[in-house]
Amino acid sequence: MTQDGERLVTAEADGEDQAVEAALRPKNLDEFIGQERVREQLSLVLTAALGRGGTADHVLLSGPPGLGKTTLSMIIAAEMGVPIRITSGPAIQHAGDLAAILSSLSEGEVLFLDEIHRMSRPAEEMLYMAMEDFRVDIIVGKGPGATAIPLDLPPFTLVGATTRAGLLPPPLRDRFGFTGHMDFYAPAELERVLNRSARLLDVELSAEGGAEIAGRSRGTPRIANRLLRRVRDYAQVRANGKVDRDIAARALDVYEVDALGLDRLDRAVLQALTTLFGGGPVGLSTLAVAVGEETETVEEVAEPFLVRSGFLARTPRGRVATAKAWLHLGLNPPQGALPGQLGAQQSVLFDNGAVTGKDATE
Ligand SMILES: Nc1ncnc2c1ncn2[C@@H]1O[C@H](COP(=O)(O)OP(=O)(O)O)[C@@H](O)[C@H]1O
Ligand SMILES: [Mg+2]
Repeated sequence: MTQDGERLVTAEADGEDQAVEAALRPKNLDEFIGQERVREQLSLVLTAALGRGGTADHVLLSGPPGLGKTTLSMIIAAEMGVPIRITSGPAIQHAGDLAAILSSLSEGEVLFLDEIHRMSRPAEEMLYMAMEDFRVDIIVGKGPGATAIPLDLPPFTLVGATTRAGLLPPPLRDRFGFTGHMDFYAPAELERVLNRSARLLDVELSAEGGAEIAGRSRGTPRIANRLLRRVRDYAQVRANGKVDRDIAARALDVYEVDALGLDRLDRAVLQALTTLFGGGPVGLSTLAVAVGEETETVEEVAEPFLVRSGFLARTPRGRVATAKAWLHLGLNPPQGALPGQLGAQQSVLFDNGAVTGKDATE
């Protein structure tokens, strides 16, 4: 994913995002926009736990990057009035690392384990017992002389986050009392995110300006916030600082993020697929060579969004451009092209106001 860091529309956080995100994160459930179902369910879980004076059940949050999983974990701690410890699956190399963290938790603390699907096997097994019995076995010594010393843990709430819930072993999944599935945001929700961020960043953003940015944000608050910052730069340098529809559109054209949120790489892939290969099917590696990228970059960076929003289909015989892809490039689709999803541009990502959140690559 060589060029991921430079992409404006990637959902992964870059350095600048991390610095700004702390300031933009909603601090409690009421401030958290959208994801109504998860919010309501979580609110019940937390309110009930508070009413019992106990610790909340373990919570698993699953969904694509940039939709608010880290934010929600912090909100859970805030709503429970407890501290939060943040770590991630890849950061825990050995079971001993996990034991050290678990044994230093204070009573009721939230342990946030990001990318929980990337934890090592021994750590995962230690976590089973910790989650269920609030106990770990510390292994002392090696070989036949090794002994397990049981250690009681204070009750804690594990909040796990994963982009790939399907990769979690069932025994781990089953130990969560509640799983929240996060979905891509509808444009109206992204507009609310943008209005809130504009207020916090002191940017004058008109309703139409917000709608323009929201439409290009791939259903993802992190991308919306990032585009807002780039649009702010443009407005400040090339205009009077105020962001209306025209300024937002012109700014994002400069950054090559088009009206549906596709960037240069996305369009290059579609361009090659349609004009060079007649719409496909064409093999991934051939397609990658045609756009001058690594196959991984095309597969992991460009394709998920193109597939999810119906521009590109993965078939057993290769990649195929849908009619929607041809039309988006201003070309006539050939006879028999897969339709993709047609119709109003905004309904591409979002049918019936909600979002078709399934990543067809999984
Ligand atoms: N529901 C939301 N309302 C407002 N801002 C949000 C919401 N969800 C995410 N954000 C913003 O988007 C950015 C990314 O959220 P984050 O929690 O880090 O996503 P994830 O952990 O799922 O990758 C943060 O700056 C956060 O403030
Ligand atoms: Mg996160």
